[in-house]
Amino acid sequence: MIDYKGKVVLITGGARGFGAEFARGFAGRGATVVIGDINTELGEATVAEISRGGSACHFLSLDVRSDIDWAAAVDYCVSEVGGLDVVINNAGVEISELYIDTTPQACRDLFDINLVGTMLGIKHAFLAMQPGGASGRGGAILNLASVAGLSSTPGLAAYSASKAGVISLTKLAATEAGTFDYGVRANCLCPSLFNTDMGRKLLNDFPGLGLGESVEAVKEGLIARIPVGRFGELSDVVNAALYLCSEEASFINGVALPVDGGMSGAG
Ligand SMILES: NC(=O)c1ccc[n+]([C@@H]2O[C@H](COP(=O)([O-])OP(=O)(O)OC[C@H]3O[C@@H](n4cnc5c(N)ncnc54)[C@H](O)[C@@H]3O)[C@@H](O)[C@H]2O)c1
Repeated sequence: MIDYKGKVVLITGGARGFGAEFARGFAGRGATVVIGDINTELGEATVAEISRGGSACHFLSLDVRSDIDWAAAVDYCVSEVGGLDVVINNAGVEISELYIDTTPQACRDLFDINLVGTMLGIKHAFLAMQPGGASGRGGAILNLASVAGLSSTPGLAAYSASKAGVISLTKLAATEAGTFDYGVRANCLCPSLFNTDMGRKLLNDFPGLGLGESVEAVKEGLIARIPVGRFGELSDVVNAALYLCSEEASFINGVALPVDGGMSGAG
C-alpha cells in the first residue's frame, strides 16, 4: 500500500470535488495535507471533516492566479507544516459555449485560472523543492488536465484549449526539472466526465447548446463512448493520483494519463 507518512501535499481547489477527494485520499495514506482554495467557508468545512477522522489537514486561502498567494502558501507549508513534497494543481474552471457566443473576457478569466494558475503552481513547487530550495528534498507535481485536452467536444473550445495547454505545461515542467536537476517529476491526469459540481454543470449545459436532447440523452451518449461501460468514480481519479505522486512511479514523468475507462483511446 502506498504510504505518504511524513509527506506534505498541497492541493489547490481542494474545498470540493476532485480536490477534496484528493485531500481525503492523501490524508488517509498518512500525508499532511494543505488545501488551498478561494472558497474559505467550504475549504474550512472540508478540512474540519478530514481532521475529525484523525488526519492532519490545514486550510489556507489561495487564489492560484496570484504569485503572492503562491509564495505565502509555499512558505506556510515549509515553515508551519514541515516541507513540501507534492503539489496538485487541481483548481480549475470551465465555460460551455459555442464559438459563435465566445466573449473575450470569459476566455481570459478561464485561461488565467487554468493556465496561469498552473504555471505559477509549477514555478513555486520548483522554487521550494529544488536542491537548496526552502523544502529542498525534490518532489512530485500533478496537474489536472482533461480528456477535453486530448479530443474535440463542441461547446468546450476555451476549456479544451486550456487543458491541452496544461498537458503541454506538464511535459515542459518534466523536461525543465530534468535539465536543471530539480529532483521533481511532473505528470497530469486527463479525466473524463465525473460527478462533481463542474461535471454536473457541464452535463446540464449541453442540451442548452443544442448538443443532446436532454441530460439523460447526453449521459447515455457518453456512456456509449466509454469502453468499460460506466462513468468513473472519484476514487478512480484519486487512485491514479496516489500512484503518480508516489515513489512507485519514480520513472513515470511527463505523462498525460487518461482516467476515462478507455474513452479517449476508443476515438
Ligand atoms: N469534474 C470533471 O468531470 C472533470 C473532468 C476532467 C478534468 N477536471 C478538472 O479537475 C479539476 C477539478 O475539477 P472539479 O470537477 O473538482 O471542479 P469543481 O468546480 O467541483 O471544484 C473546483 C475547485 O476549485 C476552486 N477554485 C476555482 N478557482 C480557483 C482559484 N482561482 N484559486 C483557487 N481555487 C479555485 C473552487 O473554489 C473549487 O473548490 C479542474 O481542473 C477540472 O478542470 C474535472
